[in-house]
Amino acid sequence: MKGGYDHYMQKEINEQPDSVLQTMRGRVKFDQKPKAMDPSWDPYHEKRITLGGLVDRISTIRSGRRIMFIACGTSFHACLACRQTMEELAELPVSLELASDLLDRRAPIFRDDMCVFVSQSGETADTLKALEYAKERGALCIGVTNTVGSAIARSTHCGVHINAGCEIGVASTKAYTSQMVALTMMGLALSEDSIRLRSKRNSIIDALGVLPDQIREVLKLDAEMLSLAEQLKEEQSLLVFGRGYNYATALEAALKVKEVALMHSEGILAGEMKHGPLALVDELLPIIVIATRDRMYQKMLSVVQQLLARGARLIILCNSGDSEMKEICASGGSRLIKVPETVECLQPIINIVPLQLLSYHLTVLRGYNVDQPRNLAKSVTVS
Ligand code: F6R
Repeated sequence: MKGGYDHYMQKEINEQPDSVLQTMRGRVKFDQKPKAMDPSWDPYHEKRITLGGLVDRISTIRSGRRIMFIACGTSFHACLACRQTMEELAELPVSLELASDLLDRRAPIFRDDMCVFVSQSGETADTLKALEYAKERGALCIGVTNTVGSAIARSTHCGVHINAGCEIGVASTKAYTSQMVALTMMGLALSEDSIRLRSKRNSIIDALGVLPDQIREVLKLDAEMLSLAEQLKEEQSLLVFGRGYNYATALEAALKVKEVALMHSEGILAGEMKHGPLALVDELLPIIVIATRDRMYQKMLSVVQQLLARGARLIILCNSGDSEMKEICASGGSRLIKVPETVECLQPIINIVPLQLLSYHLTVLRGYNVDQPRNLAKSVTVS
């Protein structure tokens, strides 16, 4: 059942090269084959995304007033990671709602809102209630689930199955990366007609093509993450700093450490550092800084420098071959986690993998139950 692994969580982390491929299978057309004899051949349209469950709804979604992502926990983090991608590709306002908070506030939803409900199980009570609430208000409800026939899959008007395969470990891992792939594909499908976005779309599609191999590459960091976990296993707390696309990575890494390793951990938006969190920084508290090369890189370099100036104990997640970061960190004695580079909207998919491995090893070393953390259930069917 566990395919030679000790725990389901470990198996599911290692399945990700295949699960993301399953999410894309039959939906992403990568090839750019010149058809010399065909005068109607358009090279740009060779790269395309077909989401069967959404094809009839694409123009309705495009003409909506806004896209609203609604989810809980890790699924919410997947929405957060893809918000900017969706804003940039769909060119619509995108809002994010934690299902419980949306219901607590009875937030306004309108007929021309496009509500996207993201849920691995498809049975989460708050997400399901938020779905009923949005339906009553006449919004188009789109499901992004991993469970065919689940309540959310059945009750939404249309949707996308992420096809990540059964996830048994309570901590969501492979569903998270597949949700991000599915939401990115949705953004690509919504932008198909945009000439202005063609080259951006093509580079994302090219990057999706090599994503499984890049995840395979990053899984090789397992021994390194075990040694980092050895170093951190007695700690009380672990902070994770990120911003931009990787704010979600910081929140998700902290959630994993909290829920399975039972260690206090907090994901912090690096842009908020000076508005409070900086007071926590000393020579003892371990801090992971996510500083891969994207639009936020220069700002993250400055965060690293400011933290080092206060003697912080840093673990920096950066791209392989980042000599600038290597140089800055050499003097501070920081530890580097080096990951392959991809387009910035897919980088969170690569970045979370070593942090999933870290939380897995921390849990085993601390002697806790990996697949069934105390007090938690895989599917939260009561509010
Ligand atoms: C964390 C985790 C939870 C779920 C949340 C929503 O690892 O698994 O935070 O993400 O309970 O569950 P779904 O996605 O099934 O709606």
